[in-house]
Amino acid sequence: NAPVITIDGPSGSGKGTIAKLVADRLGYVLLDSGALYRLTALAALNAEVDLADEGRVAEIAANLNIRFAIADGEVSAVLDGKDVSRDIRMERVSMAASKVAALPAVREALLQRQRDFRELPGLVADGRDMGTTVFPDAPVKVFLTASAEERARRRFAQLQGRGVSVSLRDLLEDIRARDDRDMNRAASPLAPADDAVVLDSTDIAIDDVLQKVLELVQN
Ligand code: CDP
Repeated sequence: NAPVITIDGPSGSGKGTIAKLVADRLGYVLLDSGALYRLTALAALNAEVDLADEGRVAEIAANLNIRFAIADGEVSAVLDGKDVSRDIRMERVSMAASKVAALPAVREALLQRQRDFRELPGLVADGRDMGTTVFPDAPVKVFLTASAEERARRRFAQLQGRGVSVSLRDLLEDIRARDDRDMNRAASPLAPADDAVVLDSTDIAIDDVLQKVLELVQN
């Protein structure tokens, strides 16, 4: 069985960045599980399906026609043959992803698809429930957190860099709403696995977090 490093945490904790860096460093495959929820949300929005209709959204999740392509070191998400990498990062889709992720049948529909990413020489799995539900046997589990304010500031800087105009206040509100939904849902709520190492990145530079994770892998 290929080794798995799980990196879970709330929105904006830096886990996506860390997961990518760790995967690059070790030559491991990367699973961005959030992208699967985002793709499900986008497909449901495109099909004008009611996001609360668990059966229909789960059906969309089960039949997602997607692939991840790599160009210039960047991973792009392709849905029904179309590159939707930008679309799935829109706030509208983020909000919808957090809604569909609360539906147990949707999580169930995506479970095996996520496990299929496990291959040699190893996998870095980024998400909310990688260490608790999807890869409970992973030898290295990290739970990355940061204060909601710091996470909103990071997201703000990221969006500004892309030329998207948003207010910091709205972002903080969105982050809190999503935290709330992620932590209080019945299916796989956001929480560290019992055997996860919890790292708070509020006052730590991304490079130092990377070093800590690599140390965990080597031990
Ligand atoms: O980048 P950000 O952390 O904002 O979001 P993401 O990791 O791309 O995940 C999008 C949404 O999918 C989150 O708001 C979660 O509600 C959900 N998600 C989940 O429930 N379980 C996962 N393993 C990954 C994401």
